[in-house]
Amino acid sequence: MSTAISPTAYNYKVVRQFAIMTVVWGILGMGLGVFIASQLVWPQLNLDLPWTSFGRLRPLHTNLVIFAFGGCALFGTSYYVVQRTCQTRLISDSMAAFTFWGWQAVIVGALITLPMGYTTTKEYAELEWPLAILLAIVWVTYGLMFFGTIVKRKTKHIYVGNWFYGAFIVVTAMLHIVNHISLPVSLFKSYSAYSGATDAMIQWWYGHNAVGFFLTTGFLGMMYYFVPKQAERPIYSYRLSIVHFWALITLYIWAGPHHLHYTALPDWAQSLGMVMSIILLAPSWGGMINGMMTLSGAWHKLRTDPILRFLVVSLAFYGMSTFEGPMMAIKTVNSLSHYTDWTIGHVHAGALGWVAMISIGAVYHMIPKLYGREQMHSIGLINAHFWLATIGTVLYIASMWVNGITQGLMWRAINDDGTLTYSFVEALQASHPGYIVRALGGAFFASGMLLMAYNVFRTVRAANPAQAEEAAKIVVVGAH
Ligand code: HEM
Ligand code: HEM
Repeated sequence: MSTAISPTAYNYKVVRQFAIMTVVWGILGMGLGVFIASQLVWPQLNLDLPWTSFGRLRPLHTNLVIFAFGGCALFGTSYYVVQRTCQTRLISDSMAAFTFWGWQAVIVGALITLPMGYTTTKEYAELEWPLAILLAIVWVTYGLMFFGTIVKRKTKHIYVGNWFYGAFIVVTAMLHIVNHISLPVSLFKSYSAYSGATDAMIQWWYGHNAVGFFLTTGFLGMMYYFVPKQAERPIYSYRLSIVHFWALITLYIWAGPHHLHYTALPDWAQSLGMVMSIILLAPSWGGMINGMMTLSGAWHKLRTDPILRFLVVSLAFYGMSTFEGPMMAIKTVNSLSHYTDWTIGHVHAGALGWVAMISIGAVYHMIPKLYGREQMHSIGLINAHFWLATIGTVLYIASMWVNGITQGLMWRAINDDGTLTYSFVEALQASHPGYIVRALGGAFFASGMLLMAYNVFRTVRAANPAQAEEAAKIVVVGAH
């Protein structure tokens, strides 16, 4: 095995930019989450203005947390991981910069247009056609960068984390482009090319796979790199990771119809979606177990390393939400859970517990390395952040379970004469305490992000550029 210092260095600039923006958008998106959660407790917070009403701010929340916060975490970590595991620099600095600024432009576009009420009305695909086109161009550039870097890699094999990132990039492009095919009638209004049940099916094929590939597969790429790195152990089973990969991507794509149970969608399609969702439990848990077992022999590190705790607890929430999801996909269960806060709780078990926690862990891992420091400014603050995030997530999920089941049962309760036992308002009143607890849980989670911002700020302020430059040098191990 030969070891050579390559004259070139990794492009860490773009990774730093995305890592910092992950924290910034995280605070804004989650802060907005707390605000809309508070609107559901105190409706006066709608301020009687169209721009600040729940209906307009809710999609802004989802766009900010999924695409701005989650997206920046995925861009940043994938650029870091692909360079380090391929032992080569990204193929183009200017294309990398374009993906950073282009992505921020899409988000700023969302910040302006969504409160103004411009929307396609398709959930998670709300951005109108000019922004959707910009997003597609940025995404295709991202794909070229990622796969181009893989092509010119200095290593023989392609590390499994890159398989997951690669699938996430390809499938997201496919979903976004197909679901957005529409006819523009003005600068800010377009109509979908599909109609009726077909439109609904394509939208939820998109929606579910946005969950499956954007909120899951990409973050699994993160998991396969950062968990072994932080635990300083090799991945538990490389073979399992390959089975995990193929099983996951083969199954996810079929599960979309579980969002359309008891609708005009053909019954066979609903049942297919249900069955595929149940089978999906297996690869999901295979991946979770692979990540968890990587800690074999390193469990004691959890006592002293809050970054590892973030990563491991995120896997626990991943396991929990991917058990809950298949249960909710069963038609009889869904007849109770659908339209209720149970769905919202499930979403945030995945979003806060899995997506946000693993991203936070990965960013804490990367920041000192990107800025030439041994470690973050304060490990104590990371620990405090960990507890705020964990308690916040648990409060959020538990309150939504209580609310969801209460709502489901109250809505379906029927008197002997066939009339409804409860009015909608009675179910809403019963949900009020849960909404208070959820807003509190959200405030816990969001305040943890403020601690993170301070900790990152102090670490970056004490940056050691010479050390950072040294760390960015490409060391080719076993060059061929
Ligand atoms: C402080 C943290 C957060 C709070 C307080 C919060 C709060 C909320 C609230 C109040 C809603 C609307 C629920 C409803 O319509 O009844 C919502 C929806 C949603 N949030 Fe969050 N959120 C937070 C973080 C996140 C994060 C980090 C993500 C994703 C990574 C996320 C993804 C979503 C999604 C996908 C929906 C739509 C769910 C659906 O339509 O079923 N949230 N959030
Ligand atoms: C095996 C894995 C999973 C399955 C089978 C699954 C299944 C489901 C089901 C049945 C629903 C309710 C549909 C409805 O009644 O409207 C749902 C909603 C949702 N799930 Fe999952 N889930 C899984 C994992 C996850 C994970 C890990 C996340 C987040 C990271 C997530 C995010 C969501 C979101 C955002 C929604 C709400 C969509 C909407 O109506 O706007 N799911 N999921």
